[in-house]
Amino acid sequence: MGKTHQQEGRGDSASSSQRQSGGLEARSTRKEEQHPSCPHPAWIHEQFDRIAPHYDKLNRVMTLGLEGGWRRKMLRGAPAPPSARVLDVCAGTGELSRLWLEEHSDAGRLVLTDFSELMLRCAPAKLPIPPAQFVVADALALPFPADSFDVLLCGFSLRNLADWRQGIAEMHRVLRSGGQALILDMCKEPWPWPVAFFIKRIVPLIGRTISGEAAAYAWLPRSIDCFVPADEVAAEMERVGFQEITRRDMTFRISTALAGRKG
Ligand SMILES: C[S@@+](CC[C@H](N)C(=O)[O-])C[C@H]1O[C@@H](n2cnc3c(N)ncnc32)[C@H](O)[C@@H]1O
Repeated sequence: MGKTHQQEGRGDSASSSQRQSGGLEARSTRKEEQHPSCPHPAWIHEQFDRIAPHYDKLNRVMTLGLEGGWRRKMLRGAPAPPSARVLDVCAGTGELSRLWLEEHSDAGRLVLTDFSELMLRCAPAKLPIPPAQFVVADALALPFPADSFDVLLCGFSLRNLADWRQGIAEMHRVLRSGGQALILDMCKEPWPWPVAFFIKRIVPLIGRTISGEAAAYAWLPRSIDCFVPADEVAAEMERVGFQEITRRDMTFRISTALAGRKG
């Protein structure tokens, strides 16, 4: 596994709230760390609020339909005890949770969290309630006690966190011993040039044209530039105490699934 780096830079965002809104529980945020060249978490939050109505459609278009297959590949055969307690961190519109229930219909508890209430509001229509519950919360300070979940899902979100190492530490904290984390993301990998060209030039163009949100879709390739290679994520997982870490690359390493068991 690759070497870990010290966290670079520090942001100064902080807010905290305890509010109840539209059936979605709101919980706290915390002081966050941030790469100096990456935007403030409040800006990220605003972008996801803005693109929420277009998110699912654009994901399919921009990945030429591949993202559903990447998600299924990660989830298929993932170990889960009967009536598992599952947490989807940064769940967005709930796609990963929806597919989790397709694969494992007997989830005992399925909690979706995200700090964008507007993203999360797209999820209930896709999921049976119960077992699904929705909590507006910061992934860097999850409002759950330690050892609360058997399975943790995180799709295309780690690279959006102001402090992805803290995100991994939180995932580890809320998992029970023996619990499984499944993380899917686009990491900073040496892509073949046509892939790099497509993601850096064409994707922002498609995003802007369909959603009208130029800044949000310009952020997508930048978020990958601000991130790290998958081996570095795996090394951090190992450092915080995950074991049996596996890496699975999808389609020219455009996305990578990392799985680890809490020791
Ligand atoms: C690219 S979307 C991925 C959504 C979903 N997981 C999926 O697989 O499609 C990234 C999500 O992370 C959320 N997010 C980013 N930073 C967050 C944070 N600090 N706390 C909670 N959610 C966050 C955004 O609001 C957004 O919904």
